[in-house]
Amino acid sequence: MLTQDELKAQVGQAALHYVVPGEIVGVGTGSTVNKFIEALAGMKDRIKGAVSSSVTSTERLRALGIPVFDANEVGELAVYIDGADEIDGQGNMIKGGGAALTREKIVAAQSRRFVCIADESKRVEVLGKFPLPVEVIPMAAQRLVRQFAALGGAARLRLKDGQPLVTDNGLHILDVTGLQIKNPLAFETEVSQWPGVLTVGVFAYQRAQVCLLGTAGGVKTLTY
Ligand code: A5P
Repeated sequence: MLTQDELKAQVGQAALHYVVPGEIVGVGTGSTVNKFIEALAGMKDRIKGAVSSSVTSTERLRALGIPVFDANEVGELAVYIDGADEIDGQGNMIKGGGAALTREKIVAAQSRRFVCIADESKRVEVLGKFPLPVEVIPMAAQRLVRQFAALGGAARLRLKDGQPLVTDNGLHILDVTGLQIKNPLAFETEVSQWPGVLTVGVFAYQRAQVCLLGTAGGVKTLTY
């Protein structure tokens, strides 16, 4: 029986097949992506470098000798590789458990193809069991808590060491429980328009085209 860590390593390795030699690859954030970054170091001489979705991933990439480019210095990327907190049967995801959702959505939008790497615990029928991360402007937080309550969700400010967590963008995160997101595209469209929301952690517009799912029987490739 493989551990969750081994499943993550398997899909991190499998994602190398989607990296286009000679090009710049989009790199996500999280423990599964950390496995991918380790694997990517093995082919660093065959790629130009990476665009990263967080300070943490940037530091890891640079420590392994992989050049990191600013998103504004490069054009469209062939592929973006990232994990997910949940993924449904159409490739829609919840992301942001690592608080990097805004930059993840930006790099995903700049990429032709999103390859999601995840262990099988992330595969769900309906999004919403994992608390939905939403990056918000601090002065709007309590009003947004009330707006989520009207949808049946309980939103809480994410804390770190007893203080509101501050993202790479200097903002705060609300985590929302109690939602069943049956129409991810409509949900993302609506919540993205609420004043004070920077990014909602539903990735329907930027859904995955491929998911490499780590299972006890090996890596399953799901396409959408
Ligand atoms: C980071 O903000 C998230 O979107 C991650 O992609 C997600 O939380 C998956 O992380 P793990 O690979 O650590 O489960």
